Amino acid sequence: MSAADGIDIKCVGVTKTFRDFWMRPRVRAVEGVDLEVRRGQIYGLLGPNGSGKSTTIKMLLGLLTPTSGRIAVLGRRPRDVGAKRHLGYLPEESYLYRFLSARETLDYYGRLFRLPGNVRRERTDRLLEMVGLEAVEHRPVGEFSKGMQRRVGLAQALINDPQLLILDEPTSGMDPVAARQIKDLIADLGSRGKTVLLCTHQLSDVEDLCDRVAIMYGGRVRAEGTCDDLLVQEALTTIQTDALPEGVVAEIRGLLARHGIDHCDVTRPRRRMESLFLEIVDRARAEGLQTSGARSGGGVADFLRGEPASSASTAPAGPTDGAVVAPAAEVDTGLIESLARRP
Ligand SMILES: Nc1ncnc2c1ncn2[C@@H]1O[C@H](COP(=O)(O)OP(=O)(O)OP(=O)(O)O)[C@@H](O)[C@H]1O
Ligand SMILES: [Mg+2]
Repeated sequence: MSAADGIDIKCVGVTKTFRDFWMRPRVRAVEGVDLEVRRGQIYGLLGPNGSGKSTTIKMLLGLLTPTSGRIAVLGRRPRDVGAKRHLGYLPEESYLYRFLSARETLDYYGRLFRLPGNVRRERTDRLLEMVGLEAVEHRPVGEFSKGMQRRVGLAQALINDPQLLILDEPTSGMDPVAARQIKDLIADLGSRGKTVLLCTHQLSDVEDLCDRVAIMYGGRVRAEGTCDDLLVQEALTTIQTDALPEGVVAEIRGLLARHGIDHCDVTRPRRRMESLFLEIVDRARAEGLQTSGARSGGGVADFLRGEPASSASTAPAGPTDGAVVAPAAEVDTGLIESLARRP
């Protein structure tokens, strides 16, 4: 489904005040938030605990009503059911039916989207493989570890091949191998033209993945922009080369000094802990060590095809097997424009 102007999420001046039993304002959770997430972007929503990220997400999903301000999601108002067909949501807590197996859980969500039986089976197979749970698919999810439940939650969020994916702390509780795979998956979905709103405390995930970020504090957006805009240190230069002998380093220092530059830090870069961890786990797997936990997930399920990023900002997503796609005429194209005009 297409959103006017390729904007999948638009918030203008959104405020949410929670009230107490006597309707007195109690917590101002979100205050005057403006957000614009374009089609195909991976957008990071950051902020310390209680800064209003989940409240913002719940308003985007129509689970909470803003006290003031306006929101459009996929060109529609958040409570419009038409937009929900094209939306995938992973909540910060895994709300799963304890006694359903992983397969039954995905089948259940597939039924909510009215996917035909053969499509549900096919997608469930692919998603279980993708998140590495095919070997434990018949166990009740109530028995799963936290990270395994997150994997089921992520598969559930993708069963309808959504255009817009809203992920609230997707890698929380996941081991570093799974977290890496989820990051790769998110990057892949972005390159297929899907839009992802990613709310996380893992700052390295944001640096690796996000096109743009908004940093919230006390319910307000304190900084917004691309990672480059926000992070590049214009006043410094890094030159990376092979290990240098002492003499060469001394010569470089001399050269810099002749140009009036005294500040020169010379260090050996460290590899990231993630790369060491992944190497050790890969080695254990290659040695055939047994595990009763989740396996390493597979590649991105082929039904999540999306659209190429190059045409992402204009072309509407193609219809998906069995999923009902709203005709373009149903999209409230005036909504984005009307949101842009502040009262
Ligand atoms: N249903 C509610 N009733 C009252 N206050 C609430 C409710 N939900 C959230 N709040 C308050 O709103 C503020 C923002 O909460 P929110 O859950 O949006 O934070 P967050 O940024 O998602 O934090 P975290 O990183 O811990 O998940 C907090 O002060 C919280 O206590
Ligand atoms: Mg939260």
